[in-house]
Amino acid sequence: MKQFDIASIPGDGIGIEVVPQAERVLRAVADVHGGLAFQFQSFPWSCQYYIEHGVMMPDNGLEQLKPFDAIFLGAVGDPNLVPDHISLWGLLIQIRREFEQVINMRPAKRLDGIQSPLQNPKDFDLVVIRENSEGEYSTVGGRIHSKEDEVAIQNAVFTRKGTERVMRYAFEVAAKRKRFVTSATKSNGIVHSMPFWDQVFKEVSADYPAIRTESQHIDALAAFFVTRPADFDVIVASNLFGDILTDIGAAIMGSIGIAPAANINVNGNYPSMFEPVHGSAPDIVGKGLANPIGQIWTAKMMLDHFGEEELGTFLLDAIERVTRKGTITKDLGGIHSTEEVTDAIISELHTAR
Ligand code: NAI
Ligand code: MG
Repeated sequence: MKQFDIASIPGDGIGIEVVPQAERVLRAVADVHGGLAFQFQSFPWSCQYYIEHGVMMPDNGLEQLKPFDAIFLGAVGDPNLVPDHISLWGLLIQIRREFEQVINMRPAKRLDGIQSPLQNPKDFDLVVIRENSEGEYSTVGGRIHSKEDEVAIQNAVFTRKGTERVMRYAFEVAAKRKRFVTSATKSNGIVHSMPFWDQVFKEVSADYPAIRTESQHIDALAAFFVTRPADFDVIVASNLFGDILTDIGAAIMGSIGIAPAANINVNGNYPSMFEPVHGSAPDIVGKGLANPIGQIWTAKMMLDHFGEEELGTFLLDAIERVTRKGTITKDLGGIHSTEEVTDAIISELHTAR
């Protein structure tokens, strides 16, 4: 019997509603499979926790999380209780940084039964692999002088280690998919870091002769995500470019409520963290309106990460059969509750057994 130990952090708002639903789904996956078990331990770290303890998580919070196979997070943030920068930096950012989750991965796929804002979305199925630790989002730089003499300098940091690491990861992912990697560049305008990025991409791609490659400038690529998303498989991007592309990816899927994400640790020293793209959605909390699919699809990414890709596909197929039948929440134009959608997915898992 294989067992996976998972640290659950439901967090705030609808995180508290969708995480238990996704746990139910994972238990059902284990039931159907047989030789597999998930053990969840839930941590109450959230804005409510901050009100009671003055911190988002205890001092030894990271030590408590370290032994787990993965962290399964809902959403953090309740601006009425705690300013966003405190809740974000006190928990999420700390986990991402300290646990060296240097890669952010976000798929975007058209699901049957879900209306994309695109007129002709075809069957797009892509994944953006974003560098998550350096690049344009660095703290190197500063401001000097004032008034009309004021100067702001923000330096981008591209290390060979970080650049090669994200590219290798992208190629490994592509090897299990349609074997096509697109590099997001801008070497026609950014004359130091992006030619370096292109050079490393070329070098790394030489190690993967079976994988087709292309480079696209980020501005054109952003437009192609809208005009022909079905042409892409894996896209590797720097921190800023990946940030922008993944928001387009989520938008063309039809609702932020279904978009999944993963923060991956690649050196094996710490657990990776799986969390949907959406936040705590204070406007719909407590009404049964939260779409559970983002959290459940995130669970699928966790299965893939555990090497259980067949089960991951099995789960995503069940999700899509449910959307195809129109069992969807209000954000997608449906009438079903969080729990009804989850029940339908679980029932599909059992039917497909
Ligand atoms: P949000 O993602 O929580 O909500 C944006 C809009 O999408 C809202 O209208 C909401 O009702 C809807 N929505 C989001 N998820 C949904 C779901 N699963 N089903 C149906 N509708 C859904 O973003 P917002 O309102 O900007 O942020 C609210 C709080 O969440 C803030 O405190 C923010 O800092 C935090 N946040 C946390 C994130 C995280 O934990 N990674 C990510 C984004 C925001
Ligand atoms: Mg963003």
